[in-house]
Amino acid sequence: MDRRHFILLGSAWSVAALARPRHRGRGVPQPMPGTVPAPASPPTALTAGQPLADLVRLPNGSATPGTFEATLIAQRASKTLLAGRPTEFWTYNGLVPGPMIEVLEGDTVRIRVENRLTQETTVHWHGLPVPPNQDGSPMDPIAPGASRIYEFTLPVGSAGTYWFHPHTHKHTAEQVFRGMAGLFVIRSRTDPLSDSFAEKHLVISDLRLASDGSIPADTAMDWQNGREGNYVLVNGQYQPTLGINPGQSQRWRILNATNARYLRVALDQHTFTLVGTDGGLLAAPMPGLSEILLAPGQRVEVIVTAALAAGAAAVLKSLPYERGAMGMGMMGGGSSTIPLLTVQYFRSTTLPVAMPTELRPIAPLGTPAAYKHLVLSSGMGMGMMGGGGMMQFLIDGKSFDPTRVDLTSRVNQVEQWTVDNRSSMDHPFHLHGTQFQVVSRTRGGATIPETTLAWRDVVNVAAFESVVFKVVQSQLGMRMYHCHILEHEDQGMMGVLDVIA
Ligand code: C2O
Ligand code: CU
Ligand code: CU
Repeated sequence: MDRRHFILLGSAWSVAALARPRHRGRGVPQPMPGTVPAPASPPTALTAGQPLADLVRLPNGSATPGTFEATLIAQRASKTLLAGRPTEFWTYNGLVPGPMIEVLEGDTVRIRVENRLTQETTVHWHGLPVPPNQDGSPMDPIAPGASRIYEFTLPVGSAGTYWFHPHTHKHTAEQVFRGMAGLFVIRSRTDPLSDSFAEKHLVISDLRLASDGSIPADTAMDWQNGREGNYVLVNGQYQPTLGINPGQSQRWRILNATNARYLRVALDQHTFTLVGTDGGLLAAPMPGLSEILLAPGQRVEVIVTAALAAGAAAVLKSLPYERGAMGMGMMGGGSSTIPLLTVQYFRSTTLPVAMPTELRPIAPLGTPAAYKHLVLSSGMGMGMMGGGGMMQFLIDGKSFDPTRVDLTSRVNQVEQWTVDNRSSMDHPFHLHGTQFQVVSRTRGGATIPETTLAWRDVVNVAAFESVVFKVVQSQLGMRMYHCHILEHEDQGMMGVLDVIA
């Protein structure tokens, strides 16, 4: 096999291919469980071991300080991963993953989005405190061939690791698994780590390739469990190699951009120091973690310190995690360990740097003025997605209706939410527009208080577990909350929150 065919990022993408969109012959495809063929047997393994590529930065087209301006084009792009069998991805600007957006707290961001797909799309700014009408919700689709401008200003205090992805009603899962997702980093001028720690970005995505090189549609099993692919990629590469100097400490921002795969990440012979979650830095570093669970949609910032000798190597992997999915063992899901990348030690050493003992203040949200209780459930339904006997995935017994308001909150009021999972599968719960603080988790009658103050926008609610968090919404308007297993979201495991004065 020809190694040149395996470079996913950079110039190897064919711009000629981008210029001629290929139509799949169905404008608004509806998933039809039971009618899609089973995935073809996994093709020959992709080539591993290339140096980890840096994410391509989305260039700032504005010369005005404090302003970021750019264009994202939702478009097909073709890339040959399997010799002679090109794969068509759906991308932002022809890249998988999408370009990385990097801005400073306080910046005004203006991004033009052009939809060159043959179905509606939106760009959702996952985790960012942007106004509801700029958040790419399913209520504001961009028609095929149309474009729009998203504009928002990012407040001081919002520094963190976020991402962007489509959020079109019923098509989010497909657009993401075909390649549409990108990292969005907001930097702070007062970041206590930025000068001392080399930064790496790990965007972890899932790819299923059929033996002809195509990306098959979701199967009935995918709609049930959420899709897991046959390759887990880092920055679009299969098991790449990340270099580190002995003694060096690196800051890794890791994003789980998969539709449904739980990543229980561990690095052989190393521990992680957790320094940040979805919404930015913790109050203080948490050293000595042998593993970190990243549910779909979640991000972390960790410090990895190179404690081994020159020439050593260690594998970053995802350990088995039982999320209650049915029949996932055969697909490489819950029961297997998956290598993600290899950390390769260089010869030249780096002098160790001291870890600050404090990162930033996090004030606990105060006494709640209102309480909400949400129930996640699943059960046999009347066929939400076009066939009888399909599972339904519900919040408070209801399936998503964009014209219905399910909950209301008062702006700037502290609320306490209990999310109660009464199903036998884990669901990563996500709320738009803000960050929350987890208070406790209850499972099997035992309540475990959360000991670390952290800002999150996704929390895993394990099977038959309930999770309590505190939250404040600071902008008026409609917000989504949903399961971040994207097939569940597309099937209606989502609700609408109206934030009122
Ligand atoms: Cu990342 Cu409403 O989603
Ligand atoms: Cu979101
Ligand atoms: Cu779910």
